Parts: sequence; structure tokens; C-alpha cells
Amino acid sequence: MIGRLNHVAIAVPDLEAAAARYRTTLGATVGAPQDEPDHGVRVVFIDLPNTKIELLHPLGEDSPIAGFLAKNPDGGVHHLCYEVEDILVARDQMQSMGARVLGSGAPKTGAHGKPVLFLHPKDFNGCLIELEEA
Ligand code: CO
Repeated sequence: MIGRLNHVAIAVPDLEAAAARYRTTLGATVGAPQDEPDHGVRVVFIDLPNTKIELLHPLGEDSPIAGFLAKNPDGGVHHLCYEVEDILVARDQMQSMGARVLGSGAPKTGAHGKPVLFLHPKDFNGCLIELEEA
């Protein structure tokens, strides 16, 4: 069902510092910050040869990242994003097997303009999972 690892998302307390660390210390190709008001985040994407890293920072007052950073002040891995061919087929199949989809269950438009959904971390060993139609 799931395909490629699309990205690993890391919540960071200082987006500029984190982006600079990836650019200079790790020598990675780092994109420009982009705001995603629908998701309450500002993101920076880092292109690696086999996947991407998504640096996440809160945007707005009730960002879902704010609580995570309150518990993890230095930042930390926030979610993994797996690609699926058809997000509605994937959602229905996973729900039929007992996995919980966060929110209304309707896909939202993700950072790459593609439909995304999130699966409950308690159903996946403590790891929040994003599904992206690719
Ligand atoms: Co993501």
C-alpha cells in the first residue's frame, strides 16, 4: 500500500538556525521558507538524493506544532510522510483495518499541492504518519 518515504518532518524552535545548520554544517540543498496557513506551520524543505527533510515551525496562534515544541523545546522528529497512489483508497483501507485518521478524514492540500492525511500516532508505535498522494 505505502510507497516511497516522501519526507521526514522535524519540528524546530528556530527555523533560520535549523535551515542554516543543514545548509552549512550538513551541506544540504535547502529551500526557502514557505507559510502554510491551512496547517499552521512555516516550513523549509531540504532536498536529499533519496527523500526530503521538512523543517517545521509554528505559524499562527493554534499551530499543531506549538504543543509539540512545548514538550520538546529543542525540537524533534514530528512525522514521517509516506506516498500512496490514491489517498481515498488508502484511507478507506486503513480505516477498515482500525487505523484512526486525524481530523474529519477528508484530505487537505499538503506542502506540495497534493492531498494529504494524518494517521494517529497511537496506532503506529508513537509515530505520526502523513500520507501523501503522489
Ligand atoms: Co509533512
